[in-house]
Amino acid sequence: MFKNTIDYDKVSKVYDQVRTGDPEMVHQILDGVSVTQDSLVLDMGCGTGNNTLLFAVASQSLVLGLDISFGMLEKAHEKKSSLPLVQAPADNLPFTSDSFDLVFMTEVIHHLPNILGSFEETYRILKRPGSLCIVTQSHAQIDHRMTSRFFPASAKIDKARYPDVDEIEDLLFKTGFNEVNPIPYVFKPVRLGNDYLETVTKRGYSMLHKIHTEDYERGLRDLQVAFASGEELSYSAEYTFIWSYKR
Ligand SMILES: C[S@@+](CC[C@H](N)C(=O)[O-])C[C@H]1O[C@@H](n2cnc3c(N)ncnc32)[C@H](O)[C@@H]1O
Repeated sequence: MFKNTIDYDKVSKVYDQVRTGDPEMVHQILDGVSVTQDSLVLDMGCGTGNNTLLFAVASQSLVLGLDISFGMLEKAHEKKSSLPLVQAPADNLPFTSDSFDLVFMTEVIHHLPNILGSFEETYRILKRPGSLCIVTQSHAQIDHRMTSRFFPASAKIDKARYPDVDEIEDLLFKTGFNEVNPIPYVFKPVRLGNDYLETVTKRGYSMLHKIHTEDYERGLRDLQVAFASGEELSYSAEYTFIWSYKR
């Protein structure tokens, strides 16, 4: 599998220019689990805290954000100084066993260098009963991305980075989770306008830096032609919510 060499502290400076919190994603997580204001929740790989904050407000539970990158956590702290944040790697969690009701991670699994070790640590810190929700994209869902249409080389690279759903399921069972339930979900369609073209033109999506310049330039030309011809580019993001339980 492709090894990650991303400098997250550097990425933190521009992360919020291309990513925002996703209320639909957060509500999907909340729909799948029962949390109260007494629940303790961990947002693993919380980044700049976008979904951490949305989840805290929507659920009224106590949500901690954990990330390996100080830069990301600094940005999260700037948004809400009282947000509890912890710097640590996912495979060495500084928490006592059996303490969390829910751990969720959005767009994180493909960044983890030690997925099995991270699952073992997650299992350890979850209460019994406790739930883990991993939000990721299956290989089929990566193929359906708008960027994969114009930049097919990016899909190939991302499929080497992202573990597919069956691989994740195997590791969860190996860890000891009793039940694993992957739920594919299609988000509401969004019409892509000039801001999308602008982001692509600035190579604002990280995967566009990983493809060869000629592949990027060809895709950009095709995208410009699609916009110029008045084609309506509408995109529904697809994710898989992989639920697993410690019972
Ligand atoms: C694509 S960002 C997702 C951030 C956030 N979950 C979101 O949805 O906006 C991936 C995050 O995983 C974090 N990360 C990468 N490796 C990690 C590790 N081993 N332990 C904890 N966090 C890690 C990165 O620092 C980064 O903030």
